[in-house]
Amino acid sequence: MDRLNGSANLMIVSDLDYTMVDHDDPENLALLRFNALWEAYYRHNSLLVFSTGRSPTIYRELRNQKPLLTPDITIMSVGTEITYGESMVPDDEWKEYLDCKWNRDIVMEETAKFPELISQSETEQRPHKVSFYLEKEKASKIMQALSKCLEKRGLDVKIIYSNGIALDILPQGAGKGRALAFLLEKLKADGLRPLNTLVCGDSGNDAELFGVPEVYGVMVSNAQEELVEWYAENSRDNARISHATERCADGIIQAIGNFSLGPNVSPRDIRDSMLNTKNLSPSHEVVMFYLFYERWMRGDIENSEQYIQNLKSIFHSTGNFVHPSGVDRPMQQIIDTLPKLFGEKQSLDFRVWVDHVSYAEVSLGSWLVKFDKWELSGNKLRCCLTKVLMNSKDDTPNGFSWMHLHQTWLDGSEGKDDTPWFI
Ligand code: GLC
Ligand code: MG
Repeated sequence: MDRLNGSANLMIVSDLDYTMVDHDDPENLALLRFNALWEAYYRHNSLLVFSTGRSPTIYRELRNQKPLLTPDITIMSVGTEITYGESMVPDDEWKEYLDCKWNRDIVMEETAKFPELISQSETEQRPHKVSFYLEKEKASKIMQALSKCLEKRGLDVKIIYSNGIALDILPQGAGKGRALAFLLEKLKADGLRPLNTLVCGDSGNDAELFGVPEVYGVMVSNAQEELVEWYAENSRDNARISHATERCADGIIQAIGNFSLGPNVSPRDIRDSMLNTKNLSPSHEVVMFYLFYERWMRGDIENSEQYIQNLKSIFHSTGNFVHPSGVDRPMQQIIDTLPKLFGEKQSLDFRVWVDHVSYAEVSLGSWLVKFDKWELSGNKLRCCLTKVLMNSKDDTPNGFSWMHLHQTWLDGSEGKDDTPWFI
């Protein structure tokens, strides 16, 4: 959070499974669209929060499987664990708060009396979360009976049913909504309350998010019955909450537009972006450039000399490119290798995206831009930590001139692919 100089323009608080991530879309197109939008226009002045039911273990698994951006804040295990930054520093204050009227052993004792409750895997049992599977038809009856039993034992708990199958027992003060309210209070105390907050979800454990005062909310088109019912009963008159007509991350982008929260056209939806745009910021420039690179390598755009000429004017004539292997070559020379690479990745599911783009003006009109560049080629995934020095320049087509580009492998990415590659 220290990354920002003041309040965030927009804070997006999104669930992951079937909200940010569409498990029915193996190409992850909506997610990649969101990623490009976020990095180009929001990353530098906004906050991205993931709020998931997953424990840290299976949250990490998802991050290894899907092109998820690095969030500023991660809320896991249905609002019982909050961590900050890339290194995921836990919020100990939140942990202490949740200890109130909570006793895990008693929850275990009482739930053991219900044979209908089937325990979830060990990874999903957390200090402030006990989780089961329970058949939909039996859910409401069992929840009532269980609630009574726990109350009798002096516990104040919250029982949440999600996805028509999962039952979570948490301390009363926990849950995705309470965790968000806590976070907003914390930001407010530091004078950093975001200008706008948009919450996004698809299932039962997301319902609470929509009840947090003053937030905008979107239920994605594919939302589960239990959330849609909750909405009909509790929130239908709230003009700040909408039911998208688009699935998952596309529904989030749609809501950004509906509520006029900022730019809502993903760079991925702009054809020929490389030729016609004056880029607004170094991050916008970087997103547009790598999108062009992806399209060129996939053969998704016209094989036109105009692109090459355009690149030549963007890359400074004395600029250098240091490949992660350590080889240092003039940028103009690299561009000369491009024509023969056109469409090279046509038969592969080749995608490129950038994460974590940050930039600083190191001297007047001169920018140091840092980001993680990810590349998926077939089933091979690799990442380079990248630094670019660029100058704002009115006479270049996109408004920036690239002076120097330096990449290093993210641990483990080295040597995963022998094919020659460009940038
Ligand atoms: C995630 C968690 C699971 C939980 C469910 C609903 O799938 O892994 O433990 O029950 O979300 O909150
Ligand atoms: Mg979900």
